[in-house]
Amino acid sequence: MEIKKLESIKTLQKELSEIIGVSGYETPVVKFIQSQLENLEVDKMWVDPLGSLLVVIEGQEGKNRIMLDAHTDEIGFMVSYVEPKGGFLRFVPIGGWDTRILLGQAVKILTDDGKEYHGIIGSKPPHLTTESERKSVVKISDMYIDTGMSSDEVQACGISIGCVGTLYDPFIEFPGTMIRGKAFDDRTGINVLLHTIKEFAANPPSDTLLFSFSSQEEVGGRGAAPAAFSLDPTMALALENTTAADVPSVKDSECPTYIGKGPAISIADRSMLAHPLVNRRLIENAKYEKIPYHMKKPIFGGTNAGRIHQTRGGIPSSVVSVPCRYIHSPTSLLSLEDIFYTIRLISAFIHNPARVSIAF
Ligand code: CO
Repeated sequence: MEIKKLESIKTLQKELSEIIGVSGYETPVVKFIQSQLENLEVDKMWVDPLGSLLVVIEGQEGKNRIMLDAHTDEIGFMVSYVEPKGGFLRFVPIGGWDTRILLGQAVKILTDDGKEYHGIIGSKPPHLTTESERKSVVKISDMYIDTGMSSDEVQACGISIGCVGTLYDPFIEFPGTMIRGKAFDDRTGINVLLHTIKEFAANPPSDTLLFSFSSQEEVGGRGAAPAAFSLDPTMALALENTTAADVPSVKDSECPTYIGKGPAISIADRSMLAHPLVNRRLIENAKYEKIPYHMKKPIFGGTNAGRIHQTRGGIPSSVVSVPCRYIHSPTSLLSLEDIFYTIRLISAFIHNPARVSIAF
């Protein structure tokens, strides 16, 4: 294990995690990625009309054009109404929250001019609810965000309908190699792609590399399909954060992936059947380089690869994920070592030392 690399993975993960980039409002994430790539020699870099950042490193002689995707957005909410009394904010979810965990959470709200404000999600106090109300999950439409400000103050600081925000939890390091923080889905994939670009920018591989930092994944992979159309790849990998359910009360047969076993390679999820030849290039090279990996159990979740593989004439695709507990909650937990081995697996996939010959 290269300690220096773990440090650089951790630093980047912290910086990426703390940025707010709700679906459709990913500009702060895109700007951060651009700043990371400033002095690197890439052949092309542009932001497409839907806000995805696309980067190309031309290959030396290979026939394949490999697309590597990670999404810039995170799930969040949008202000839908400001209560005239008390300045409480009603909100709608953007992306798939687990409604059970929202009450009492700290949030950050972003104004149009980029200022951040704190709040807390509340509902009718428990003392005033009936027993049957306490037994059922409170609906999001019955919740509100309390910013501690009056409606006049809310208006004065630029919070209005359409403002977005997200649950906020600080980045924390556990003893060992575990870390905790918000939006690891999919800032982890971005971390992997940034390390990959840094490795190959000055040293282009045989195949051409097409990177998509895609917008709007959490609302149905809306940014990735047009990105794939523009990049015109011959194969694609989505880099994701996926559910590790290696916790009490979950049967092994129902546990999609595990922390500490390296990257998880998808076989089938709800959005795609992974292409067997793309998986062969992943698996043979992992074995060749002795990189730990495991197969994600079917058929949980869906990713941008579900949209990418159906663009143009069809693009053979798969998904490589870093296992993560408590995904789509205010704070998730993962292992820096699993990110490290994911970066190594992607590098091995690109270099292809096992010489798995697939051309589409
Ligand atoms: Co994701």
